[in-house]
Amino acid sequence: MAKAAAIQHACSECGYTTGKWLGKCPACGSWGTLVEERIAAVPKGAAQAAGRPLLRLVEVEAGDAERIPTGVAELDRVLGGGLVPASLVLVSGDPGIGKSTLLLMALRSLSADRRVLLVTGEESAAQVKLRADRLGGGADVHILAETNLDEVCATLERERPDVCVIDSVQTLYAAELGSAPGSVAQVREAAGRLLRVAKESGIATILVGHVTKDGSVAGPRVLEHLVDCVLQFEGDRYHAHRILRAVKNRFGSTNELGVFEMTGAGLVGVPDPSALFGKTEDGEVGAAVACALEGTRPMLLEVQSLVSPTDLAMPRRVGTGVDPKRLAMIVAVLGRHAGVALGGADVFVNVAGGVRIDEPGADLAVALAIASAAKGTRVREATAAFGEVGLTGRLRPATQAERRLEECAKLGLAAVVAPSGSPAHGKLRVEQADTVRRAIGVGVRGADQGEQAKARR
Ligand SMILES: Nc1ncnc2c1ncn2[C@@H]1O[C@H](COP(=O)(O)OP(=O)(O)OP(=O)(O)O)[C@@H](O)[C@H]1O
Ligand SMILES: [Mg+2]
Repeated sequence: MAKAAAIQHACSECGYTTGKWLGKCPACGSWGTLVEERIAAVPKGAAQAAGRPLLRLVEVEAGDAERIPTGVAELDRVLGGGLVPASLVLVSGDPGIGKSTLLLMALRSLSADRRVLLVTGEESAAQVKLRADRLGGGADVHILAETNLDEVCATLERERPDVCVIDSVQTLYAAELGSAPGSVAQVREAAGRLLRVAKESGIATILVGHVTKDGSVAGPRVLEHLVDCVLQFEGDRYHAHRILRAVKNRFGSTNELGVFEMTGAGLVGVPDPSALFGKTEDGEVGAAVACALEGTRPMLLEVQSLVSPTDLAMPRRVGTGVDPKRLAMIVAVLGRHAGVALGGADVFVNVAGGVRIDEPGADLAVALAIASAAKGTRVREATAAFGEVGLTGRLRPATQAERRLEECAKLGLAAVVAPSGSPAHGKLRVEQADTVRRAIGVGVRGADQGEQAKARR
């Protein structure tokens, strides 16, 4: 009697294996991550692997690894200069953010001198055609509307295009697995098979991936480990601007970001993003620029404030995009330690673009915006700020100062108000301040000449 193949269940987060299926992984505590795996039985008498001859690195012939420019400048910038042949890139983002649009634009310009293929599982060929017409024509893009993984792989091996886009990896299914498309096992199988085809046939492959509610790529974590490059496409549904970031890149830096604007004719690159996020209106009172870290990624955001006299016994402190408790604390510190009395005034704070800042490193920019609004003078132009405000009025160093400064320099700012001990950074003027009072002295125009002189010394 033939022996049934053994089945085990492996956690896609930590790799823990168990004989029976469990809802929660006993090793790492994740829910719903255990997936069924078949252990291939080794036939008796199978030939032992003989091992392969060794190569020294100097003898390895690196193929002509010239990059393929996609023709979308902002995308090339994030990829580190273009697509690397035979690499696997994962592009993830919220529904409707514009992933398909971005990649169709790239395919259109690539098709001028390369063979390109779009595998669409989400939309019919006619729907893609409609989008292509909106973007200005379909050009020479080949299209395959297919979700069967075997068919897709076979087509890729036969056609061997230079660049292939799979939209999306969650719609592919391998019939032999039995589970539904988009399940952990299916996504992992699809990515693994496509990786093999990409490397063997030299196809630069771009996978579109969905994200879960908390923003990580849906499907097993291994997907992120498998691919060479993970790009995240983010933005606010109510605003036209979109940001493309590299979360992982084996062939380039992950500090680059690309900025796009969604228009009726597709995504238009924004070569100077500082004009969007990093700059306040000239001469506007009550606006400061924060350099906040989102996870590990720095981002410049305009913080606006309004201070208006009130007759209320309990003046209002209203923050949109900032934590109300932190706002109350900053207002108290400003009153007690920085000479900005706000006892008889309502304070409103708003972070532009509908972004939410949870990070204490943005405190100083909030403080500067409020101080500027209260004093009626503006924050110095082309200046950003970061640093955590302590209860004693002292500025605490913010984490990853180097990365924040790099972001400010990249977005073309002239100066940054930062806690003492922050490193110098190229041409960027780093104005160090040890207290909130001094930071306001340096950051807000006409606030306190004495403090400015002291800070320079
Ligand atoms: N005529 C138009 N004018 C302006 N913007 C448009 C127009 N048509 C579509 N869009 C924008 O394109 C977005 C959809 O883009 P796209 O289909 O590329 O997103 P996606 O990330 O691929 O979504 P999904 O996850 O559903 O596949 C819409 O949310 C809308 O903002
Ligand atoms: Mg899409």
